[in-house]
Amino acid sequence: FNVPVPANEPVYSYAPGTKERELLKQAIAEARAQQVDIPMYIGSKEVRTDKKVKLSPPHDHQHVLGYYSQGTKEHVKEAIDAALAAKKDWENLPWEQRAAIFLKAAELISTKYRYKLNAATMLGQSKNAFQAEIDSACEITDFLRFNVKYMAEIYQQQPPVNAKGVWNRVEQRPLEGFVFALTPFNFTAIAGNLPTCVAMMGNVVVWKPSNTQIYSANVLMQIFKEAGLPDGVINLVYVSGPDAGDVIFKHPDFAGIHFTGSTAVFQDIWKTIGENIHIYKSYPRIVGETGGKDFIVAHSSADIKVLNTALVRGAFEYQGQKCSAASRAYIPQSLWPKLRDLMEADIKSFKIGGTEDFSNFINAVIDEKAFDKITKYIDRAKESPDAEIIIGGEYDKSKGYFIHPTVILAKKPDYETMREELFGPVLTVYVYEDDKFEETLKLVDSTSIYALTGSIISQDRYAIDKATYELRNAAGNFYINDKCTGAVVGQQPFGGSRGSGTNDKAGSMINLLRWVSPRTIKETF
Ligand code: ALA
Repeated sequence: FNVPVPANEPVYSYAPGTKERELLKQAIAEARAQQVDIPMYIGSKEVRTDKKVKLSPPHDHQHVLGYYSQGTKEHVKEAIDAALAAKKDWENLPWEQRAAIFLKAAELISTKYRYKLNAATMLGQSKNAFQAEIDSACEITDFLRFNVKYMAEIYQQQPPVNAKGVWNRVEQRPLEGFVFALTPFNFTAIAGNLPTCVAMMGNVVVWKPSNTQIYSANVLMQIFKEAGLPDGVINLVYVSGPDAGDVIFKHPDFAGIHFTGSTAVFQDIWKTIGENIHIYKSYPRIVGETGGKDFIVAHSSADIKVLNTALVRGAFEYQGQKCSAASRAYIPQSLWPKLRDLMEADIKSFKIGGTEDFSNFINAVIDEKAFDKITKYIDRAKESPDAEIIIGGEYDKSKGYFIHPTVILAKKPDYETMREELFGPVLTVYVYEDDKFEETLKLVDSTSIYALTGSIISQDRYAIDKATYELRNAAGNFYINDKCTGAVVGQQPFGGSRGSGTNDKAGSMINLLRWVSPRTIKETF
């Protein structure tokens, strides 16, 4: 196919002494020196309202990054109208022209805006430099470039057989109506991918980001505009969930939702769509990635260093706020004493603080609601006879929402932090008897109400194969001898089933196919 062959964006380390480190520091200083007045983007208009909401870094309550304008139901209506007005011209553009806009956006991020977008993610979402780099510089450009490749493949797939005197063809039309993108705070890349991959296929979009990601969403939107995205194709609004829902799900032109967020919100949305199903022109596409309670299972043959790295990186990078983060571990008794020492040494060496100091590995959790939720679980574990906090457990929200990386030892496999999603820097470990490996696999599967990511750490082929089979439905992304985070676009398509979502694999042809409605044409000569 005649599109540029995608390759993963190279990752900068930001190691001391590198030019990139200085450029990123400069971008952070520039961002901190200004206060942005962030508008909504509706059609050709930048819309500001009187209701300004302050944005501060999660790690620094004292600093003000700027303000965004809170919108209302009226703005959602305007965004839908703007989307529908832009629809005809956009869907009639040759797909190569649409592709070129998104390839240009990827190039702009890779070159001109890399540091600005990383700085926005570091300040707005409290990601350290490396985490921001793999998310904001790399994953979003990878999504844009690989999706263009998948898009080209989709448009060029045709039925393999034409009977004599007949020409069969399949036309991949965009959906009739508009699509709603409801996006999370934890990956700038996911927030950018959900509306763009829908728009790429000729659809128009109303995009509502998480309130805690608006600072970097604004930078992304400016980049998409500079890349040539026509007005109205993606409309960015900041409204409450109920205000958005009341307008969007009652609109006859609602054609689908692309969602990443909590299981409870997704289930409510699904119900609301069901209740309104009679008003829509077509059955809406419902695509969502939701919660997770991702696991690492170790076999007694595990390489203990590999296991330790998988646990501390999988559980604590970005404060455990990756949907893929390891939050429960099943460790054989024989490995536990040594593993506990290794983990403790590593975790105690992590520096905690703001993202401006690049030596800090752990930064703040996203907001007060998250802080309060996570720390309640920690407090309950301190009191519970069924749990013991063996590492961490401290927290402090006076300067920012800081929670120390915490390891809980669960004395029962169904202790609450082995089951419930905390979305924070807390790992719960359950220690099992070495000869109970197969029972433990069954336990992991039967307690996986979510099924996003998981790992087996083992040097024994039989154990690897057994885990791969027994846990086949417990994780949409399954890792052998690696941490369960860090799926790379173009390498490991990402998504899960059960309570974790519709498993339409972000960054894959499967996902893009949800945003087209094929028409089969048979012409007889
Ligand atoms: N790519 C992200 C991860 O797998 C979502 O952690």
